[in-house]
Amino acid sequence: MAGGAFSVEKGGKEFRGKFTGYVLLSCILAASGGLMFGYDVGISGGVTSMDDFLGKFFPVVLAKKRRATATESSYCKYDNQGLQAFTSSLYIAGLVATFAASFVTRRFGRKPSMLTAGVFFLVGVVFNAAAMNLAMLIIGRIMLGCGVGFANQAVPLYLSEIAPTRFRGGLNILFQLNVTIGILFANLVNYGTQRIHPWGWRLSLGLAGIPASLLAVGSLLLCETANSLIERGHLERGKAVLKKIRGTDDVDEEFEEMVEVSRIAKEIKHPFRNIIKREHRPQLVIAISLQVFQQFTGINAIMFYAPVLFQTLGFKNDASLYSAVITGAVNVLSTVVSILSVDKFGRRALLLEAGFQMFIPQVLIAILLATGLHGGKQLSHPSAIIVVLMICLFVSGFAWSWGPLGWLIPSEIFPLEIRSAGQSITVCSNLFFTFVIAQSFLSMLCHFKYGIFLFFAGFVVIMTIFVYFLVPETKGIPIEEMVFVWRKHWLWKRFVPASDAKDVILEVAAKHPDPDEDQQFNGIKHQNGLPQSY
Ligand code: BGC
Repeated sequence: MAGGAFSVEKGGKEFRGKFTGYVLLSCILAASGGLMFGYDVGISGGVTSMDDFLGKFFPVVLAKKRRATATESSYCKYDNQGLQAFTSSLYIAGLVATFAASFVTRRFGRKPSMLTAGVFFLVGVVFNAAAMNLAMLIIGRIMLGCGVGFANQAVPLYLSEIAPTRFRGGLNILFQLNVTIGILFANLVNYGTQRIHPWGWRLSLGLAGIPASLLAVGSLLLCETANSLIERGHLERGKAVLKKIRGTDDVDEEFEEMVEVSRIAKEIKHPFRNIIKREHRPQLVIAISLQVFQQFTGINAIMFYAPVLFQTLGFKNDASLYSAVITGAVNVLSTVVSILSVDKFGRRALLLEAGFQMFIPQVLIAILLATGLHGGKQLSHPSAIIVVLMICLFVSGFAWSWGPLGWLIPSEIFPLEIRSAGQSITVCSNLFFTFVIAQSFLSMLCHFKYGIFLFFAGFVVIMTIFVYFLVPETKGIPIEEMVFVWRKHWLWKRFVPASDAKDVILEVAAKHPDPDEDQQFNGIKHQNGLPQSY
């Protein structure tokens, strides 16, 4: 998720505990939450390029598509606010639902939120697959959006709380991997259903019921997290759950730390007021900018509208969905590359390399379209193949950089007391800018024509410069020592307050990595009124 995992950190300490059946089940749950989100992202493009679907809900667009002659620009044949609303309504609903989800997740637990997500998804799927008119279609998308809001808030949190610490980072990107698998699955389904007339689109929308049911049933089977139980005062039940998921009775140390962390977290009465303080400006600016930039790479113009885009370029129905399947597969494989390399090469190296890798194809595509697609003319066969290759190059650059890192970096830079608020702001900004792209891309394509690719290329330059100057490397840095990163940075050091007791302790701790000295440092921490996790 696209949600990105965050957690109540345990000071980088590894407690005893196995990779139990429960943890495995939670991975399957992650798969269904991520798959569902990805499926929703990927399905709309193929469906909106099917004539049966357009004929039923958007006859004006179908007429325009068939009329697209030498006198009418091919760039404008899909420009329709209703058609864009079908895609974008999901994201605006998701954005609003995130606020309710954050309340339910905190007050009632992770499990009720995941169940709510599953139920919203199922209702949405029924409305969509059975839609008789545009209203049913949009209501269905809004229900799916509410599901996305609840799932993206609760599932990553659930995962990070249930996973043993050493698997937490991997699980974070694994969630994104499932999003990409969901998109690919949707593209494959569309490829098959477009041959089924006149109800293939119903099957496309209805098959989302598979990940939706998995999430709903899964959330009934799984137990609440120990963190959530402890946070809500059910200490004994929390301890019992911890023993069960860790597969050992030796959980006292982890349990005590959870109780302590929850006590401290409760002391922060106004995390949202806290987060706007000057000292948290670096994290806030980076988290929000990463979401704006992630969406302004133009990735979702391709993920949502690839089949429509390929048809605009002159591909036939079949060929355009086929190309969408290829880009979907490139997306999945390149995300695996990210999982394997992010802790080796670091975040900055991947983001900076991807800057070049995304800029060049966008400019080349603009040139090919400018010279080959005008006055209703279609692209020549060789140019069309180069365009698909360039889109694959662009997608792979995104998938090993801005895709996963747009979620990973915000999840690791916020200090404990504002981490939850930071995550909500991250999810909301992401969904907002996703909505902006979904609602405006087809109109932008109509007005900017090939220039749309130059528009996104311009943003890629700006975001690469932003990363170069303003995003410090966070690879291998324990979350509790992140303060040094800001302190050393040429700009951010002006915002982070001068050395205080907390830094002195961290500095001492950094010089004494010997575990035998832990006791001594815990003593120092307590004298300074600091939690164990510092
Ligand atoms: C983004 C989504 C996008 C997906 C593509 C995610 O990181 O947040 O908006 O559709 O990547 O793989």
